[in-house]
Amino acid sequence: MTTTPTSPTLIATLAGHHYTDPGLFRQEQEKIFERLWCCAVRAADLERPGAFRTVPIGRESVLITRNRSGALRAFLNVCRHRGAQLCTDESGEVRRSLQCPYHAWTYDLDGRLVAAPNLRKMPDLDRTARGLVAVPLREWLGYAWVCLADQPPSFEETVIGAAAERLGDAAALDRYGTERLALGKRITYDVRANWKLIVENFMECYHCATIHPELTEVLPEFAEGLAAQCYVGHGAEFAEEAAGFTVDGSAGFGRLPGIEDAQDRRYYAVTVRPQTFLNLVPDHVIVHRMFPMAADRTRVECDWLYLPEVVASGADVSRSVELFHRVNAQDFAACERTQPAMDSRAYRDGGVLVPSEHHIGAFHAWVTACLGDGR
Ligand code: FES
Ligand code: FE
Repeated sequence: MTTTPTSPTLIATLAGHHYTDPGLFRQEQEKIFERLWCCAVRAADLERPGAFRTVPIGRESVLITRNRSGALRAFLNVCRHRGAQLCTDESGEVRRSLQCPYHAWTYDLDGRLVAAPNLRKMPDLDRTARGLVAVPLREWLGYAWVCLADQPPSFEETVIGAAAERLGDAAALDRYGTERLALGKRITYDVRANWKLIVENFMECYHCATIHPELTEVLPEFAEGLAAQCYVGHGAEFAEEAAGFTVDGSAGFGRLPGIEDAQDRRYYAVTVRPQTFLNLVPDHVIVHRMFPMAADRTRVECDWLYLPEVVASGADVSRSVELFHRVNAQDFAACERTQPAMDSRAYRDGGVLVPSEHHIGAFHAWVTACLGDGR
């Protein structure tokens, strides 16, 4: 008896409702984004004591400030009196304290309740017990990372170690000196798509030949459909004719000081679960932070980072920014085109992952496991 050769197995995707169901989205917020370390703000955005920013993490608003001694602190953005949101602005700067706009309870930059109208007439009020609720914070790569879990997982293992594992070499990321770089450009995208569609898209390059003409010019191997993330430690090589990682292949800037020959003229991509993407090229680093807002809506903040002297000189970074801005716009348009169809009967049982997308199956298994066992 002869057997006919079969094509490599196709794996099913998640079913459509995983991308639309508000109840499932709530569970993801609770069991993923409120339990893991999330990259919240760029530390240099809060340069002076009193500077603050609020970010949505899971179902909470988290307030991050720089205190008088120069350290970053994070709190739940909720007044301990009657629960008003303390800071309603996304960013700003106060002199010494944060005052609730409702009844004027006032907290210092370390979250202590320091004043309230008629405080002397309330001897029962234990001020030390009514400070802002602190949120664990770590700084890494020049960003403040926060975790809402009662017992945060190891930052070393789940963030630093996970990124190193992707690159196959613990020192590879350090060589970019990301924490010493300066912000050249930031673009915020309001994407009308579920966060998982964005992660899945970032993980595969089966779409690259179809929707990324500029990217595949610079990284020809991407036209083959295999993403850098398909292999541990693989950097996609620049096209021979590309002088730099720019929209027209023109020269970028000198390589970052720590970059070794083996990393030169190569592009590396890393996903740090659950919401951060790093793109590494010899002369700059691109950091995406993703903030899921609803089952069908995700905010993405994208930073382009260069050597401080490049930014200070006023050099034109627009050609390198434009390359990945186009990639982002192309990717997010594809995600937005997919989102409405997640509700279609045609996608009731999901779709398939072709062999070059098989690693997305591991992401689906991870999401399902997070929701399933509650850890
Ligand atoms: Fe903030 Fe009353 S709710 S002072
Ligand atoms: Fe893409």
